[in-house]
Amino acid sequence: MKIVVIGTGYVGLVSGACFADFGHHVTCVDKDPKKIEMLERNEMPIWEPGLDSLVESNVRKGRLEFTTRLSPALPDADAVFIAVGTPSRRGDGHADLTYVFNAVRELAQKLEHPVVVVTKSTVPVGTGDEIAKILKEEGAPEGCSVASNPEFLREGAAIADFKHPDRILIGANDDKAREVLREIYRPLFLNKAPMLFVSRRTAELTKYAANAFLATKISFINEMADLCEAVGADVQDVARGIGLDNRIGPKFLHAGPGYGGSCFPKDTLALLRTAEEAGVENQIVNAVVKVNDDRKNGMAARVEKAMGGSVSGKTVAVLGLTFKPNTDDMRDAPSIPLVNMLVEKGAKVQAYDPVGMEMAKPHMPEDGVTYADGEMTAINGADALVIVTEWDEFRALDLDAVKAAMKGDKLLDLRNIYERDEAERAGFDYRPIGR
Ligand code: UDX
Repeated sequence: MKIVVIGTGYVGLVSGACFADFGHHVTCVDKDPKKIEMLERNEMPIWEPGLDSLVESNVRKGRLEFTTRLSPALPDADAVFIAVGTPSRRGDGHADLTYVFNAVRELAQKLEHPVVVVTKSTVPVGTGDEIAKILKEEGAPEGCSVASNPEFLREGAAIADFKHPDRILIGANDDKAREVLREIYRPLFLNKAPMLFVSRRTAELTKYAANAFLATKISFINEMADLCEAVGADVQDVARGIGLDNRIGPKFLHAGPGYGGSCFPKDTLALLRTAEEAGVENQIVNAVVKVNDDRKNGMAARVEKAMGGSVSGKTVAVLGLTFKPNTDDMRDAPSIPLVNMLVEKGAKVQAYDPVGMEMAKPHMPEDGVTYADGEMTAINGADALVIVTEWDEFRALDLDAVKAAMKGDKLLDLRNIYERDEAERAGFDYRPIGR
């Protein structure tokens, strides 16, 4: 199959590289010449484990190309995937579809034969209908199909998720789209990955429902964590106790500082707007969003409480800035409100993140934060240590050495990566989440 992918962000680049690795010919198109030049030099614009070698080997085999020009990529194309960004629109939380519609408009004007246009970006219900309308208005050749094929990949595990998906979801309203997509995913089909064929609108909604449900699990366990703290129970044991019930499942029940990233915050808000427009009240998702916002904004107060009511004049070491490990992504990271509020309240923050430091700086206050070159430098002389992101390298710190390097004894473990006894043995006043 010959595939064109428009947009070389997370979803576009990973999908393009993986499709090429299946043996298809893939051209990735992006308007940003800097990104394309980087990719041609085999430099990745995003930090994703394994992506550079996957890109390099498929480029070398002549199956993967990068370009800024759409027209030369289109002849013989069977499918064109739209993988451009759909950020939250300022003000109303709706998904901003400007990039999607601009890409479709340009595509319609340049196509000379019918193709299957597939949305891979997360797009609100009805976007496929809108795309079909634009194709028609802009004079695309007769016989184009529009399908929805949402992506469920997690940052940091994106390639494995793409190649070993729990399911492949295909929303199509005609046979041609179903056939082309079945052929594209044939290598996975042979691996017995379940392929679900549903209507286009159903596929679009399923993506939002999946993310909203996962976000619900997190907000739920975070509420249970607060309750555990209040009544003297252990949220990790509660999570295990409920998670072993097959109907609940053990995953996505880690209590923490609230969810962040490029998907959950934006998709839950967009789902609420869709529901509102459809005249349906989504009370659960509404609560999930509120619980998460309150949680992220409440982390600084937790530090303040641990420090006896004030952080003014104190030095707080913050380990981990990105929204989760194995990514440099800072979007909606819980560290952002935490560090900003700590500094506002008069603390001095010494921060360290293994890969996210440069991406973090624009989100942090200009004064009041220093960036350390390693965890021990960050910890040096601190009154409190807050572990915000569970990078592997923070899991096996020499707690005795950490305690000796600090001035104070507060350890706020927002990801529950240590045990109380070991922390207390090293002399810490240990403050986990929900235990
Ligand atoms: C998510 C979905 O998992 C993926 O299917 C979708 O396509 C995009 O959004 P991602 O944003 O990469 O992927 O990260 P994920 O690993 O799902 O974590 C999201 C957030 O939830 C992180 O902030 C993480 O720390 C938090 N989280 C996750 C918890 O607080 N507790 C958990 O148990 C799981």
